[in-house]
Amino acid sequence: MKSTELAETHPDFLYGTAWKEERTPALVELALRVGFRGIDTANQRKHYFEAGVGQGLTAAYRAGVVTRADLFLQTKFTYQPGQDHRLPYDPEASLSVQVAQSMASSLEHLGTDLVDSYVMHGPSSNNDWTEADSEVWEAMKKERDAGRTRLLGVSNVSLQHLEQMAGAHSEAPAFVQNRCYARFGWDREVRLFCNQRNIVYQGFSLLTANAEVLRDSLVTGLAARANVTPAQVVFAFARAVGMLPLTGTSDAEHMKQDLADGSLVLAPDAARGIEKLAG
Ligand SMILES: NC(=O)c1ccc[n+]([C@@H]2O[C@H](COP(=O)([O-])OP(=O)(O)OC[C@H]3O[C@@H](n4cnc5c(N)ncnc54)[C@H](OP(=O)(O)O)[C@@H]3O)[C@@H](O)[C@H]2O)c1
Repeated sequence: MKSTELAETHPDFLYGTAWKEERTPALVELALRVGFRGIDTANQRKHYFEAGVGQGLTAAYRAGVVTRADLFLQTKFTYQPGQDHRLPYDPEASLSVQVAQSMASSLEHLGTDLVDSYVMHGPSSNNDWTEADSEVWEAMKKERDAGRTRLLGVSNVSLQHLEQMAGAHSEAPAFVQNRCYARFGWDREVRLFCNQRNIVYQGFSLLTANAEVLRDSLVTGLAARANVTPAQVVFAFARAVGMLPLTGTSDAEHMKQDLADGSLVLAPDAARGIEKLAG
């Protein structure tokens, strides 16, 4: 798939639904009303209320805010160590069966028969791409081939994971979703790997992981001159260097600001300056 084709398959901002618990339905509906068209969730009840995301979608469909066809829905398969007791699969079943069961449960939660992106929430080991990861990835490909997701991704991966994955599988993910720390060069190595292979890099915790950047005079100066907030400058920077950013805000004004910063274009030297800030 060419990068232009892939770009057409997702909106340029994703609304993240972690940690919203009983507020999830109302916040998803609000995000859609404000204008978000990409929703990120996971079948991991410990941190996400995926069925609540589905309730928010249903409310928005009923109110005529959006239709399913307008949306990019992304969810994730999470290994048992990342879950609490509320598992979306039989822990005694094989990993391949767990993937199929988790996907079936996600489709039910989200009230759809097809998601747009299905993501491995994280590899089974912090260091290496393992046999278990290969089994899960192959099972995810089967879900895609059966028409239950359009695209596949991986999350919380290092360059080593990605290189080992590339050695074990002919097919690369469409997405990599990582926490993006300015102090680690904004995940430079992984972003470079992605850029070279036409993989879309999704960055999360762009604000919460980078408090020092939001206070930096380069960023506050750019924000003051453009009459926007430092948070908007960080999201504009993310886009300028080719990331697909996530925001998890619960605040309607921040939702509007986050979407509005799509029209804020950073000069290349400003983006280069922010890229070098802490890494
Ligand atoms: N793959 C993974 O393992 C993984 C891990 C973590 C997160 N995620 C995904 O990424 C999503 C986003 O997580 P996150 O860590 O980036 O965000 P987040 O944890 O939701 O935090 C954003 C924080 O920044 C604050 N904020 C201040 N100004 C803001 C502005 N203009 N726009 C947005 N936020 C503003 C928000 O407060 P207000 O609410 O007051 O705006 C909020 O406290 C999650 O919901 C989840 O979908 C994935």
